[in-house]
Formats: sequence, structure tokens, C-alpha cells
Amino acid sequence: MSAVEDKRNVMKSGFGVREIDSDQKKGAPLPPFEKPVPEGARLVDLPKPKKEVVTKAHIYDCVNDRKSRRRFTSESLTLDELAYLLWATQGVREVVPGARAYRTVPSAGCRHPFDTYLAVTRVQGLEPGIYRYLAMSHQLALIEAAPDIESRVAAASGSMTWIASAPVVFVWAVTPYRSEWRYAGEAQRLMLLDAGHVCQNLYLAAESIGCGTCAIGAFPQAEIDAMFGLDGKDEFVVYCAPVGKV
Ligand SMILES: Cc1cc2nc3c(=O)[nH]c(=O)nc-3n(C[C@H](O)[C@H](O)[C@H](O)COP(=O)(O)O)c2cc1C
Repeated sequence: MSAVEDKRNVMKSGFGVREIDSDQKKGAPLPPFEKPVPEGARLVDLPKPKKEVVTKAHIYDCVNDRKSRRRFTSESLTLDELAYLLWATQGVREVVPGARAYRTVPSAGCRHPFDTYLAVTRVQGLEPGIYRYLAMSHQLALIEAAPDIESRVAAASGSMTWIASAPVVFVWAVTPYRSEWRYAGEAQRLMLLDAGHVCQNLYLAAESIGCGTCAIGAFPQAEIDAMFGLDGKDEFVVYCAPVGKV
């Protein structure tokens, strides 16, 4: 089998073909629903997601007008707008203790293997820096205050210099074990499918509040992982999306 064929096989379903020899079947404990809150981290309570931030309310218009936006104004986002976008992409809908936490997006087996990191340049009420969304409590944890965040984003964006003009960049990191616990070697394909739903909700939610975004799949893996303090093995970035007013 060629290397390309080998890689293509990752896209194929093995359900009903291969045995799914998962840790769940072996009785291993359920992994946490999200990465634990960093000790001593400064937490920011986010406002509840509000319908009032929506300026384009019809789903038809949001779907029809959605496109990848690579030009943003110099306007900041409000905390209400950011809270709405975080809720739309990873917000928790219902928790079934010891089993699963439903979110605003679907995920295979309700495993939800992502945590959302933010590179914040201009959001009202937030100091510039790196944050992580705590979906279970709808808060942000400040990972690192960084007055130079814009130049750091620019440095990591390669030829896509426009990314650094965004007031906030959403960065989705995966913790593969959350899905592998149930699906073992089937999990990798499912997690990438999950990621698409998250980003599509960002496209549509951004469109509904006069913002725009662009999915970014081409990023320097090691550099971005290091920027967000990820080990690149048990947690690493799979997708990014700058957001700004258009
Ligand atoms: C998985 C994925 C990865 C993408 N990666 C990039 C990227 O790295 N840089 C970029 O400028 N656009 C990227 N895009 C945006 C596509 O170029 C864009 O969706 C496509 O040209 C269609 O345009 P539309 O989104 O306006 O319909 C990506 C889109 C997807 C779905």
C-alpha cells in the first residue's frame, strides 16, 4: 500500500469491519469533559449568550451570505459578542453527570474532544493575551497576558498576514483521548468531522452579528502548539479561525 493510500484509509469508516478495542470497553474511567482549569489562573465570567447581539436574525440570510472573510475593520468585539460566538461553537447545552455534556454542536458519541483557545487582540473588557474557554462554567481562563499578541499572531501566520488584523483568533485544540476512550482507532476520523461542525457554527454565528471569519487549516503545527502551551502529543491544534467585524 502506498503512503497516500495509507493516509486515505484514515478517512474510511472501520465500523463493522474492525473490532473497536476501546478503553471504555476495558472499564477505564471517563475522561474529563474539558481540560481542567489551570491552577491559580485568572478567570473571567462571561455574560450569558444574548439574542440581542444578533443583527441578522434569519438563518436563510446567514447561510446565504456566509463566505470566508479575510478583511476586518479595526473595530473591537464586545464581550457579549465574544460570549455569543463561544456559546455558538462550544457552549454546553446539558450535562448528564458521569456520562456526557451536550453542546451547541454535534460530536460523535458526544465526546467533544476540543478546547477553544483565543488569541485576543481587541475585545472590550479583556486584556490582550491568550485565553482558554471553560465551556462547562462559561468562563475564560487567562493563560497568558500578552501585550504583543498581535505581533505574535503575525509571526505565526506566515504569508497570511491578514490574520493578525483580527481582534480575536479562535484556535481549536484536540485532546484525542476523549474520543479514543470510546472509539480507539476510529476516533481520528470522527474528531476531524467534529471540527467541521464547530467551525461552521462560527461562520454562521459570526455572520449573524456583522462579523466574519475564515477557516484556517494551513498553519505551522509546532509553532502554534508552542504558542498556546500545548504538548503536541496529547493535545494539539487542529483548526483556527480569525474573527472580526466586516
Ligand atoms: C478545512 C478548511 C481549511 C481551510 N484553510 C484555509 C487556510 O488555511 N487559509 C485560507 O485563507 N482559507 C482557508 N480555508 C477557506 C477556504 O479557502 C474557503 O472556504 C474556500 O475558498 C471557499 O470559499 P468560501 O468559504 O467563501 O465559500 C479553509 C477552509 C476549510 C473548510
